[in-house]
Amino acid sequence: MDKSVIIRASSLKKSYGEGEALLYALNDVSLEVYEGEFLVILGESGSGKSTLLNVLGGMDKADSGTVVVQGKDITAMNARQLTLYRRDDVGFVYQFFNLLNDLTILQNVTLAPKSGRNKERTAALIEAVGLKGKENKFPRQLSGGQQQRVAIARALNKDSNILFCDEPTGALDAASGKAVLVLLDQIHKQGKTIVLVTHTREIAMMADRIVIMKDGKIVRIEENEHPLGADEVNW
Ligand SMILES: Nc1ncnc2c1ncn2[C@@H]1O[C@H](COP(=O)(O)OP(=O)(O)OP(=O)(O)O)[C@@H](O)[C@H]1O
Ligand SMILES: [Mg+2]
Repeated sequence: MDKSVIIRASSLKKSYGEGEALLYALNDVSLEVYEGEFLVILGESGSGKSTLLNVLGGMDKADSGTVVVQGKDITAMNARQLTLYRRDDVGFVYQFFNLLNDLTILQNVTLAPKSGRNKERTAALIEAVGLKGKENKFPRQLSGGQQQRVAIARALNKDSNILFCDEPTGALDAASGKAVLVLLDQIHKQGKTIVLVTHTREIAMMADRIVIMKDGKIVRIEENEHPLGADEVNW
């Protein structure tokens, strides 16, 4: 299979503090993400996983280095271009859902500007994440697992090619977490590129490739010849 590169990150550096307190969250990180792959970034707390994800997603800026996504150099973008990139080109799922609490489930899912126009598609997405009938509820009326599935539906509703997930099961119990992983597995099989951050080795075993980070560096990339299905993952 010919692998085409959808994200190319080169020589990323990002530091905090100075002098004795100088710390590299990213210390010369280069990485290619292939179109359609399920890539996991695995590492201990503080290893730089979220920083890397946020830089790839245009949520954070590196001090140096470049990130080219689908041919666009996002590190050369101005603030407005970057806002459009975040809004239209990539989806995000976070540990703590980041839903807007004053909006209903339906309103949350249709937040993305390109999304609200197709009512049938939105309805199908809400059904696909198992929340049919909950459209007019507010986030506080749903469980954590259900809220995370709203966040996934919102991300998918943009129709972006890439989905970034930072510890998407981190705040969930095992059963709800598994439901979220099943959903991500399906989304991946439909062709979306997924980059997922976790510190859980078992979850990483779902990936096509596992990028191991330590102290702001990629220390190893493992090819996973037999990715586990979400139903086979236990943690
Ligand atoms: N705003 C900040 N100011 C100072 N240091 C920061 C800041 N953000 C991150 N760091 C430091 O950068 C390093 C990498 O942080 P990062 O959040 O990327 O780690 P992580 O691998 O995602 O950890 P976790 O698994 O706990 O989420 C850590 O040492 C962290 O303390
Ligand atoms: Mg993190």
